[in-house]
Amino acid sequence: MSEVTAGLPSDFFWGVATSAYQIEGAFDEDGRTLSIWDTFARRPGAVAAGENGDVACDHYHRMPADVAMIARLGVDKYRFSVSWPRIQPGGRGPVNPKGLDFYSRLVDELLEKGVDPWLTLYHWDLPQELEDAGGWPHRDTAYRFAEFAGLVHDALGDRVPTWTTLNEPWCSAMLGYDTGRHAPGRKNFGEAIRAVHHLLLGHGLAGQELRSRGVSSLGITLNMGVHTPASDDPRDVDAARRADGLGTRIYLDPLVHGRYPEDVLVDVAGRGAELPVRSGDLEIISAPIDVLGVNYYTSHVVKATDDPAVAEVVPQGRPVTAMGWEIVPEGFTALLVRLQRDYGVPMVITENGAAFDDLEVDDGYVADADRVEYLRSHISAVAAAVRGGADVRGYLAWSLMDNFEWGYGYAKRFGIVRVDYATQERTLKQSAQWYRELVAASRV
Ligand code: FCB
Repeated sequence: MSEVTAGLPSDFFWGVATSAYQIEGAFDEDGRTLSIWDTFARRPGAVAAGENGDVACDHYHRMPADVAMIARLGVDKYRFSVSWPRIQPGGRGPVNPKGLDFYSRLVDELLEKGVDPWLTLYHWDLPQELEDAGGWPHRDTAYRFAEFAGLVHDALGDRVPTWTTLNEPWCSAMLGYDTGRHAPGRKNFGEAIRAVHHLLLGHGLAGQELRSRGVSSLGITLNMGVHTPASDDPRDVDAARRADGLGTRIYLDPLVHGRYPEDVLVDVAGRGAELPVRSGDLEIISAPIDVLGVNYYTSHVVKATDDPAVAEVVPQGRPVTAMGWEIVPEGFTALLVRLQRDYGVPMVITENGAAFDDLEVDDGYVADADRVEYLRSHISAVAAAVRGGADVRGYLAWSLMDNFEWGYGYAKRFGIVRVDYATQERTLKQSAQWYRELVAASRV
């Protein structure tokens, strides 16, 4: 174990992560209204096998047992997200006490078991009514989100130490409004770029609400990787620059440096789009954060195509996960060192993990050796980055348990705990046992 974690600080923390729509189910109970994912999943062809999050892992009804399972893993932290339409049905107006009560009980259970709650306010489940009013391309959504943040903090702020505003705004904007592969399934690049700015503005405005209520550990989570040009050809180099611009710098430059990158402004203008920045927005967006959440799954080698807006990913012949994502742990090290150099914000790995094909439970055991190897190599990569100067404070594995993997439905399993969806039985996989031992060993 020790060579895996060599160089990590003694107070480095460990945890597991989930999100509301992916695990809760109970989609129409206790006053919850629909989110864009409830609507999108009902659209024919949107989700593999026509699946949806109506029941998911039934976590809404099994929460105390799930928290007990988290505690048995021995982790320090549990990262979860709150469902906006459960807490504030329709995205406007008063809170729904029953919805809030679920999270209040979750937080109490965690604290009672010695696990720190880490709360993400938005993991993609926008109330459908706010999408109908324009969604993230519409500026008002940012203000609605800030109001929601205040409401949640008023109820849970006395017990939740760490607050993340958004999970992966790239996915919300690009998959939701450009490619249409995620909810709400629109396909318009201009709207996606408007969504980028309003998501960032929503982060900044929500941050103001949280700071005014005394939050001292505040952040945002981004999904990132390294984009390497396939050759020295200037066209390939430019393809990598563009991918990095739209994937990473369009978020981190305004968040940390208070401005959008010039080259990205030119790129998006060339595609007929514009970031709808108003005076004062960038000051709001660039208010300091305490922690940058990093979600890492893979990295890409890219090459130019005839369409400057489209980079082609060139497979490197490496092993892949069940998502078809190449396994590139050294890209993780390179990413973290680069983020330290260019942005200098303390980091936490808020997601990292892998889907592999389902394995039946055999005599109480799920032998997911490939996931153990993925986690081992990626935690080693984090430790290498720390030795290389990156300020990384903790690691949260994605995911606690198998769950609804968005457009892929239940076919892709990321859990270190297996879920039998017919019975809702949970079984610790080999990877969960390995992780528990790693965490225990790192404390000695
Ligand atoms: C991330 C999401 C998370 C999960 C993993 C596999 O993009 O934040 O919900 O789907 O990918």
